[in-house]
Amino acid sequence: MSKDKPWSGRFTEATDRFVEEFTASVGFDRRLYRHDIAGSIAHARMLAKVGVLTGKECEQIVNGLEEIGREIAAGDFAWSTALEDVHMNIESRLTARIGEVGKKLHTGRSRNDQVATDLRLYLRDGIDETLAAVKRLQAAILTVAEREAATPMPGFTHLQIAQPVTFGHHLLAWFEMLDRDAGRLADARRRLNLLPLGAAALAGTSFPIDREHVARALGFDGVCENSLDAVSDRDFAIEFTAAAAQIMMHLSRMSEELVLWASPMFGFVELPDAFCTGSSIMPQKKNPDVPELVRGKTGRVYGHLTALLTLMKGQPLAYNKDNQEDKEPVFDTLDTVLGCLRAYGDMVPQLKANRERMLAAARGGYATATDLADYLVRKGVPFRDAHEIVGRAVRLAIDTHRDLAALKLEELQALSSAIGQDVYASLLVEGSLNARRHTGGTAPEAVREAIVRARRRLDG
Ligand code: ARG
Repeated sequence: MSKDKPWSGRFTEATDRFVEEFTASVGFDRRLYRHDIAGSIAHARMLAKVGVLTGKECEQIVNGLEEIGREIAAGDFAWSTALEDVHMNIESRLTARIGEVGKKLHTGRSRNDQVATDLRLYLRDGIDETLAAVKRLQAAILTVAEREAATPMPGFTHLQIAQPVTFGHHLLAWFEMLDRDAGRLADARRRLNLLPLGAAALAGTSFPIDREHVARALGFDGVCENSLDAVSDRDFAIEFTAAAAQIMMHLSRMSEELVLWASPMFGFVELPDAFCTGSSIMPQKKNPDVPELVRGKTGRVYGHLTALLTLMKGQPLAYNKDNQEDKEPVFDTLDTVLGCLRAYGDMVPQLKANRERMLAAARGGYATATDLADYLVRKGVPFRDAHEIVGRAVRLAIDTHRDLAALKLEELQALSSAIGQDVYASLLVEGSLNARRHTGGTAPEAVREAIVRARRRLDG
């Protein structure tokens, strides 16, 4: 019987070779090593504070753990599948380095509260990094929105030209989506930031531990109230992944718009060359790879969210080995969302708006038809009648291949005697935009004010 496992005491047969591989998590959970070491150091210091370890023992353990951290960082650590996971690899190495005293570290804890602590610490950093990346993209969006605050483009509903908007206004819609994402991340962080350690395997420990001390040392706001819940809860991983899924959903919507706008049929924006690729066969092609790939990667984050929800479904309290499956979805979600946010943060400031194409599309699409109806209403025509009259004006414009502002005054007056020379202010794209000056409106002036408020929110 091999004695290489910390739990081999009650066993008479060695672990099946395949099962050893099958049940091991060290291949992926080694990513937690820094947080595992930080948690162990805080635990050891607390054990010394309450008198379970001597000061000298604690010092040896802490020094040993710090050296192991350096070993791993330098790539000098021999990870062992037989030792199952990151926790037992580090603990076993500690004993190899500092001797018998290393075996005292695990007093009053279990891998169950240890791994729950590690993952919370890891994800807390991950959330902070994601939040910073979201804010960086938001700042980039504001830069372009400011540049394009007065750039008219068609606004769409049903992907049909609806009413003129400014490009800056459209970009500010992206800013708002991301702002809610940032709020969700901050919210998830608040709920996550409680310490599981002290729950031990599930029922707490008979040692006189000081959980609040450990919590403070690790930067937690408090401790998990219930030991059973502390070792089994993975809501925090689900919440982060759900927030990430919404970020990806938003990025995929932006991607879809960029792909459309960059196509020659729209020609609204030019993506930077550095973010596109060519075709191996069609020399004229410039493909919007980055937006497409981001749109595509959205699917895997949705998949991870579904995996985590399903992982937790029907699990009885407290810890179950199922939970080992929480890590890969979390890690890949983090990698994916950070990669996508980074690419967007780099790309967005380099977007080039084709202002002529945007304006021509807004003009050519009868986008000011609603403005003409509003004009008639101001002249005393009931809205329903106005709608009908404008419908006929649009018909005339279509039949004679002109935009609305090109219709002659006599032609318009033949449709309604309420129309006067002043109608043209309403028919022009610029007039339509400037009329929408209220908070949340698309007028260049309103957009500039919104940018000032957005900057304040972003910095605040
Ligand atoms: N590798 C395990 C995990 O990721 C650590 C906890 C193991 N606990 C246990 N009782 N087997 O969940």
